Amino acid sequence: METERIVSAWKRPDDWDAEVSLRPRTLDEYIGQDKVKEHMDLFITAAKQRGEPLDHVLLYGPPGLGKTSLAHIIATELGVGIHTTSGPAIERQGDLVAILTSLQSNDVLFIDEIHRLSRSVEEVLYPAMEDGAVDIVIGKGPGARSVRIDLPPFTLIGATTRAGMLTSPLRDRFGVMSRLELYQTKDLQSIVTRAAGILGVDIDEEGAREIAKRSRGTPRVANRLLKRVRDYAQVRADNRITHEVATEALSLFEIDDNGLDHLDRRILQTIQRVFGGGPVGIESLAAAIGEEADTIEDVYEPFLLQLGLVQRTARGRCITSLGYQYLGLTPPDAAGGELQ
Ligand SMILES: Nc1ncnc2c1ncn2[C@@H]1O[C@H](COP(=O)(O)OP(=O)(O)OP(=O)(O)O)[C@@H](O)[C@H]1O
Ligand SMILES: [Mg+2]
Repeated sequence: METERIVSAWKRPDDWDAEVSLRPRTLDEYIGQDKVKEHMDLFITAAKQRGEPLDHVLLYGPPGLGKTSLAHIIATELGVGIHTTSGPAIERQGDLVAILTSLQSNDVLFIDEIHRLSRSVEEVLYPAMEDGAVDIVIGKGPGARSVRIDLPPFTLIGATTRAGMLTSPLRDRFGVMSRLELYQTKDLQSIVTRAAGILGVDIDEEGAREIAKRSRGTPRVANRLLKRVRDYAQVRADNRITHEVATEALSLFEIDDNGLDHLDRRILQTIQRVFGGGPVGIESLAAAIGEEADTIEDVYEPFLLQLGLVQRTARGRCITSLGYQYLGLTPPDAAGGELQ
């Protein structure tokens, strides 16, 4: 059900085509995330000057913020090839060994959803990342022997929405760990304007700003909302996205001023009505709503936290005074001590 939401940060089937054409290709085209970009630029320049591969990079953060895009950009900026795979796609140790031994010198190996690698496959990565070699076992039974194969120098880029699920031996082998943050409205506005340019959509500054404001800090959502508002402008307006057109369209799709939809409101209402405003543990909340706890943690919660509507405490999630206001309620005094 999460993937059916128009404001879902997870990739939906209708995103595929647009994502390829809208994907930024260079660091310059990659909007926002200034700190990550500056660091990455520095590390890339240094590695190139030395003629060495870049240190292994872990990119983590909520879905749709540009991890896959950044991995491709890093390879482009390094001027090397990229081999793309994902945690669940590598089933056996041999699959990973085959990929590693086929890399060219200094290439990037991009493993998406790296937290879903099986433990036995992960064990191949340890020596590969640390010593640039893999150990393979030849033969069976008493005659079996282990042979070490040297690998070409390479950079592993791992991406995950769940850095906490990585084992520590794997996490420790990344030299660079970059957390991508939700985007500011001004950056999302630039992303919408850029995407509109590529898609040939007529949009003014205020129209782009309105879409940006309701995009939940997430470029993937911004691009998707742009496409839906374009449909509206084409059928119901004169094919031009202004502030008014964007506002009308987004209200029609039931996305409010803050980018919240009915499911976000349901989370807030559930914490308030069922759990007395919290604190409530993530599992209980998930059960009450009928969603996966992971989905709540990865997708809904970061945005509700950023808006300050919900707070995370050691004992669970609480609704804040802003959250009460959002629901049109007066915050109870008893909650005062818990609020920011
Ligand atoms: N910094 C950016 N500047 C411009 N567009 C961006 C940026 N980051 C992401 N996008 C847009 O958002 C889309 C989704 O980004 P991407 O697929 O890289 O996210 P992701 O973090 O890998 O998501 P997931 O966690 O689902 O794998 C891209 O196709 C691109 O159009
Ligand atoms: Mg991705």
